[in-house]
Amino acid sequence: MTLLQAIQSQGVGSRKQCLALIERGHALIDGEVCLKPKQVVLPEQVSFYYDDELCVWQDRIVIMMHKPLGYECSAKPQHHPSVLDLLPSIYRARGVQPVGRLDVDTSGLLLLTDDGQLIHRLTHPKRHVPKTYQVTTCEPLNETQINALWQEIELNDEPRPVKAISVQQTASNELLLVIDEGRYHQVRRMLAAVGNSVDKLSRIQMGALPLPDDLPPGAWRSIEEADIGIELR
Ligand code: URA
Repeated sequence: MTLLQAIQSQGVGSRKQCLALIERGHALIDGEVCLKPKQVVLPEQVSFYYDDELCVWQDRIVIMMHKPLGYECSAKPQHHPSVLDLLPSIYRARGVQPVGRLDVDTSGLLLLTDDGQLIHRLTHPKRHVPKTYQVTTCEPLNETQINALWQEIELNDEPRPVKAISVQQTASNELLLVIDEGRYHQVRRMLAAVGNSVDKLSRIQMGALPLPDDLPPGAWRSIEEADIGIELR
């Protein structure tokens, strides 16, 4: 592979733009500027500057973020900033998107990737990826409500009832709820259906991947697909 091909594979622009990037001295091989587009490289040796940020060559991008409250999981947000605003600009240029969505009022673990197939595999209903939510309710939970959460629940405008995988009350107003679907506002609607409502909602695990304690709201880091811990191929 040539330096030009390695840069072009990063989705940062047309062939002409990538050539210009190299001519400006913004491409590096093993940390040294290289001005030769035809230089043969191993892609792992390549880094480059994009919007003044140093980016290392990446085959694809898979990251986890601690989504903060007040951000929308959309590239074209309506009323709030986008979670993509929390990432370096090259990630948006490469088409990184959230894997599914969390509401603007929900915080917690959000995966993002530029790999469309990975998004498909993780969000396909047949895949049943378990997602754990920490729920704080507005009213104390009672036994009837907990029992009802274990049963199938009919939600308006949904073709089939939903059912929790696990319900664990952790305090009078708190529970851990595991679901393996991602219907619109599912957790809030499930709590409403059993006669309570959600005060705070945070996703703390997806598949085998927990939200790390040392990842504060707004922070993110790269992960490997294997970290998600489910068979995806
Ligand atoms: N369920 C909800 O109601 N909201 C979310 O953001 C995620 C799951």
